[in-house]
Amino acid sequence: MRNRIVAGNWKMNKTFEEAEGLVFEIVDFLEENEIINTEVVICPPALYLELASDAAVESQVEIGAQNVYARESGAYTGEISAPMLQSMEIAYCIIGHSERRKYFKESNELLAEKVIACLNNDIRPIFCIGETLDEREAGNHFKVVEDQLNEALFNLSSGEFQNIVIAYEPVWAIGTGVTATSAQAQEMHAYIRSLLAGKYGSDVADQTRILYGGSCNALNAAELFSNPDVDGGLIGGASLIGHDFIEIIKSFPDAS
Ligand code: PGA
Repeated sequence: MRNRIVAGNWKMNKTFEEAEGLVFEIVDFLEENEIINTEVVICPPALYLELASDAAVESQVEIGAQNVYARESGAYTGEISAPMLQSMEIAYCIIGHSERRKYFKESNELLAEKVIACLNNDIRPIFCIGETLDEREAGNHFKVVEDQLNEALFNLSSGEFQNIVIAYEPVWAIGTGVTATSAQAQEMHAYIRSLLAGKYGSDVADQTRILYGGSCNALNAAELFSNPDVDGGLIGGASLIGHDFIEIIKSFPDAS
């Protein structure tokens, strides 16, 4: 069975003290409650990675970055490299989030470089793909997702690909309160898995975790996660509230 993942993407939220409180709320919960077959990942703003990483030492919580630059070091003012993340024992990095694609004009070509930078430094990418509302309404959603995979990930070898986590995040569902229906999520996740099987074979496809993201919350997570091809979630807004995020962590029927 695939180990599931519930990852919290805090985006650009929380002061230092708020971040500290939230991280410890989750770490403390997992110290007192055994959640099985589920990895819990917190992706705070880069400024708080050290705080989160220290708090999570010896806990079940793993820490992820929200972004990374593709180069190893050098004159790139304001950027953070994969070797820096590795030196702080950061396990995951979100790559290709629709907000980075939209506001920072990140192309699949750049994202492919970021993926390689992470893999070269033992950081597992959580690679985001998903269509806009216009693309879905035009019936192009499968094609969009296929193109994103082809252009950003399918240059990887099968060995490299085994470290990739996919997050399917329909752009129209992110931060909108409109969630994909359980059937829409399962349909797309099964399609993505079929593409992985076509490219890398069924063993790799069966092992790859495919997360759902987009207005996933404490009320709808259980239904979304009950689908056979949904291996957890990338959670934005609801990950900012400790109680809600913990409810989502508990949402797999066999989690405890
Ligand atoms: P949301 O964000 O849960 O607030 O919709 C998800 C994401 O952007 O990863």
